[in-house]
Amino acid sequence: MQIKVPFLDLKTHHAPMLDDINRAIQEVIQSSAFAGGPFVAAFEQEFAAFCDAPHALGVGSGTEALWLSLLACGIGPGDEVITVPSTFMATAEAITYCGARPVFVDVDERTYTMNPEALQSALTTRTRAIIPVHLFGQPADMDPIVEFARKHGLYVIEDACQAHGAEYKGRRVGILGDTACFSFYPGKNLGAFGEAGAIVTGSTELSEKIRILRDHGQVRKYFHTMVGWNCRMDGIQAAVLRIKLRHLEAGNERRRAHAAEYDAALSGVKGIVIPAQRSCVRHVYHVYAICVNERDEVTKCLADRGIATGIHYPVPIHLQQAYRNLGYTQGAFPIAERCAAGFVSLPMYPELTEAHLEMVIEGVKEAVARGSEV
Ligand SMILES: Cc1ncc(COP(=O)(O)O)c(C=O)c1O
Repeated sequence: MQIKVPFLDLKTHHAPMLDDINRAIQEVIQSSAFAGGPFVAAFEQEFAAFCDAPHALGVGSGTEALWLSLLACGIGPGDEVITVPSTFMATAEAITYCGARPVFVDVDERTYTMNPEALQSALTTRTRAIIPVHLFGQPADMDPIVEFARKHGLYVIEDACQAHGAEYKGRRVGILGDTACFSFYPGKNLGAFGEAGAIVTGSTELSEKIRILRDHGQVRKYFHTMVGWNCRMDGIQAAVLRIKLRHLEAGNERRRAHAAEYDAALSGVKGIVIPAQRSCVRHVYHVYAICVNERDEVTKCLADRGIATGIHYPVPIHLQQAYRNLGYTQGAFPIAERCAAGFVSLPMYPELTEAHLEMVIEGVKEAVARGSEV
């Protein structure tokens, strides 16, 4: 079957920027500033300004951003970090890679982000930090999370890997906790031409620590005050990201308009739960996921019509084989489990046309109606 609506279309997304991007890449090649360097520093300044934050540090990926944030907060063996099971594996992996233990709490049933009311039950004397995830581009309910953290002396690390430009009560994600972690994986709202990530923080102390940790713990060449790792951002990625950052807001606005169109067409349709946007946030729709009952039938029917879909994510983290040792069983987090069973992500990117949207909407309505017949 010919694909009529791809899940993502990076080629079309990049077309109007290609001349600028090629020029920027040539500049890096001419100056040989490939690892860290002035292009990374310039991107850091611009991305910090975009987030209304004092500091941004470019790193190799969103996973590294999470890992270095935890290390900079001094988290290690014997510690526990509370997060959610409805996320990409990297959120929990970073905790494990510090030697700490991930402890999960369920998500809110309408917004799919961390349920602040569940935090108390996960708190122990070993808890050191909380990682709320701004899933799909919607900020978690940060005020009660930060309030709980401050009361108990915990760090808050935002997993903003899917939420570039999202806002909570008029403030950009990135400065709502102690650090915020961004991924520039190519398909993200702001994506590099390879792997890249960033940490944003309001803390000069954490920023300095992360700057040293990401570069082998060196304060100047060959003088190491800490044992760090190589987590530097590439100059070419920074140069590409600087160009793409100029287009991010327009892209986010188009995503929001597409989401509004999906919402209007699919709300109230029997068998579909549309995503809810909290009234105090600006959701940037990295992913537009609906929840359906007969997912396999629905996705197959859409595929037969040439409409690509995704599933974010089919197995909640607490039930992943890799985390069997944590001892969680089916039923531990019913909302996360229900989401994992029912989510279908629809095509969502700035370049979707009116014709694409109509095809998806008609396809989904028919697929859900057919799914309910089986
Ligand atoms: C919620 C979340 N956390 C962390 C990551 C990890 O980012 P990266 O792939 O850049 O390492 C991702 C990326 O997919 C993500 O979506």
